[in-house]
Amino acid sequence: MIKFEHVGLRYGIGPEVLTDINFVLEPGSFHFLTGPSGSGKTSIMSLMYLGRKPTRGLVTMFGQNINDMDRSQLCALRQKIGVVFQEFRLLPHLSAFDNVALPMRISGHPESEVKSNVDELLEWVGLGDYKNVLPMTLSGGQQQRVAIARSVIARPKLLLADEPTGNLDDNIGFRLMHLFEQLNRMGTTIVIATHSQSIMDRFGHPRLVLEAGNLHVHDNANWVQKNIEGVY
Ligand SMILES: Nc1ncnc2c1ncn2[C@@H]1O[C@H](COP(=O)(O)OP(=O)(O)OP(=O)(O)O)[C@@H](O)[C@H]1O
Ligand SMILES: [Mg+2]
Repeated sequence: MIKFEHVGLRYGIGPEVLTDINFVLEPGSFHFLTGPSGSGKTSIMSLMYLGRKPTRGLVTMFGQNINDMDRSQLCALRQKIGVVFQEFRLLPHLSAFDNVALPMRISGHPESEVKSNVDELLEWVGLGDYKNVLPMTLSGGQQQRVAIARSVIARPKLLLADEPTGNLDDNIGFRLMHLFEQLNRMGTTIVIATHSQSIMDRFGHPRLVLEAGNLHVHDNANWVQKNIEGVY
C-alpha cells in the first residue's frame, strides 16, 4: 500500500527534515505515527497524501511511484485517500454538511445517498444540530469532528489523520478512534499521527516513531507487520 525507500525531504534550501526513511505498510494495516513536535510527522503525511514529492528516494503508493505521476494521475489517486489535516482545512464558505458531503459528491454518488450518509455521520460525531453552520462558527473540536467525518465519508482505501484527536477530550477522542477501527475492519489502511500516549496505549497498534529525521518501527507483540529496514 505504501513503501518509502531512502526517502529524504527538505523545504527549499533548508536542512533535510527527513533524512533516510524506509518502511512498508501493508494493505489493511493500522499504524500510529509519533515523535516529538517538529520531528516530521506532518511532512511524512504530506508525502503520503501526495501533497508533495520527496527530495530524494522513492515513495510508492498503491503500487505506483509518485515521482512518475502527473497531476491528473495524482488527482485520481487522491480520491482513494481520506485525510484529516492537522489544521482541518475545511472550506470556509461551505456548511458542515456540505464540507462532509464533498468527497461523495466528487465521486458522483446520488444526492439521496449523500444526504442519508452525511446526516448519519454528523449525528454519529455529535454534530447533528450543526449541519447548516459555517466552520468559523464552530469550536476547534467541532471543526475537527467535521474534518474527521469528511475524511471517512467516502470509505477511502487509505485514511491519513494528522493529530485527529488533538482538540478533543478523551471520551470523544476514544469514540472517534472506534470509528477508525471500524473502518479498518472493513479494509481501510490507516495511519494516525498522534502525541497521545493514552490513545496509543489503549489501541495497541504498531508505531512508526520519528526521531531526528529517521523512522523506527515499534512492533506490537500481537501485530504482524513488515519493516523493510535492513532489507535494503
Ligand atoms: N512548509 C514548510 N516550510 C519550511 N519548513 C517546514 C515546512 N513545514 C514543516 N517544516 C519544517 O519541517 C520540520 C518538520 O515539521 P513537521 O510539521 O513535519 O513536524 P511535526 O512532527 O508534524 O510537528 P508537530 O507535532 O508540531 O505537528 C520542522 O522543522 C518544520 O520547521
Ligand atoms: Mg504536525
